[in-house]
Amino acid sequence: MAKAKTPPVPAEMLPKHIAFIMDGNGRWAKKRGLPRTAGHVEGAKNFKKIVRYCKDIGIENITFYAFSTENWKRPDEEVSAIMNLMREYLVEVRKHITENTRFIVLGDKSAFSPDLKRGFDSIEADTVDFNDMTLNMAVNYGSRHEITGAVRELARQVQAGTLSPEDITEETISQALYTKDLPDVDLMIRPSGEFRISNFLLWQSAYAELYFCDTLWPDFSPKDLDEALIAYAKRNRRFGGV
Ligand code: IPE
Ligand code: IPE
Ligand code: MG
Repeated sequence: MAKAKTPPVPAEMLPKHIAFIMDGNGRWAKKRGLPRTAGHVEGAKNFKKIVRYCKDIGIENITFYAFSTENWKRPDEEVSAIMNLMREYLVEVRKHITENTRFIVLGDKSAFSPDLKRGFDSIEADTVDFNDMTLNMAVNYGSRHEITGAVRELARQVQAGTLSPEDITEETISQALYTKDLPDVDLMIRPSGEFRISNFLLWQSAYAELYFCDTLWPDFSPKDLDEALIAYAKRNRRFGGV
């Protein structure tokens, strides 16, 4: 795939999988005296900009944390505004379906309204063979929920006699997660000045490099991403070795 833009570091030093925690939308709005939902609108715009940039510089797998299993605690009005942004985004993805980007939802879709669930299912099915880039949207995603679901599924197989406990390996577990077949996270980025993971990709980020910055998500720019990529390229990843 020809790159539309030159990455800030040589291509072989780029992460194969970047996970973004899109945090700080509410604070961005508050600073401007706007309702929190305005922050989510701006955050969604920025998400599209960052997806485009990642594609242009040749990142192969990107994952965005859009809504967590814990975010249902928020006021109904805020939750519906976020769900509506998802609906609007699905319409846009349809328009750009020629771009060879695979779209995958990480999360428990059973909680969504039927139209949204259908929209996610069909976009996943229609992009399944696309391979320039994989774009994963984590919606109603929680790592503990995901791992619990995987354990249940493996327990069912053991009970049915199709799997023996000895055959449960790290690989079997990985394959029972929403992220099956995706490479592990190389770089996890959290803007907005918080230093935590908030139940995001705990298994998949076992050896991820973590990058935190103060910028609020709606302001997180391609230049900020370049800085993260430059920092990542300087890290010495040892994976327990020397
Ligand atoms: C992230 O921004 C978006 C979601 C969690 C849906 P927040 O809404 O958490 O923004 P802050 O953290 O309150 O500023
Ligand atoms: C994490 O942000 C979830 C998403 C960005 C979707 P939160 O704002 O929900 O995380 P906490 O509550 O600050 O840990
Ligand atoms: Mg937040």
